[in-house]
Amino acid sequence: MNKAVRYFSKLGNTKHIAEAIAAGAGVPAVSISDEPQLTEHVDILYLGGAPYANIMAPELKAYAEQLTPQMVGSVRLFTTSNWSRRTVLALKKILGEAGIPVEKEYFYAHMLNIRGRLDAAKAFGGR
Ligand SMILES: Cc1cc2nc3c(=O)[nH]c(=O)nc-3n(C[C@H](O)[C@H](O)[C@H](O)COP(=O)(O)O)c2cc1C
Repeated sequence: MNKAVRYFSKLGNTKHIAEAIAAGAGVPAVSISDEPQLTEHVDILYLGGAPYANIMAPELKAYAEQLTPQMVGSVRLFTTSNWSRRTVLALKKILGEAGIPVEKEYFYAHMLNIRGRLDAAKAFGGR
């Protein structure tokens, strides 16, 4: 079963969490800015981002919209924010409509407690 970690991060918070998840999963954390498409089939895709002025970055939305069930077995979501879980809800909707299974459990880290959540993020990646 292969895993991949993809994220979008403007300020670095989601990147830190993605790297901890990736350490747990034993794969690199790759920004969708550096690699805009998956290059091979992934059984479990960890996908994360954050809200900016109440919506996720258009880059992350576009990335999610081009995923297909042929490329991805299932998705585990993660997000960082000040308060909002909207990114997770919006990604769930996009992926669900595309027929890609999304695990109910997702990972959340508050933007002021990124360091405090790194161990838990690593455990999430190792599941
Ligand atoms: C311009 C801007 C707008 C933001 N808007 C929201 C928001 O609407 N809701 C929220 O919960 N957090 C908001 N935040 C906080 C970010 O989502 C939070 O800092 C997040 O961890 C950023 O992720 P990143 O460091 O990976 O870019 C905003 C941050 C910025 C800079």
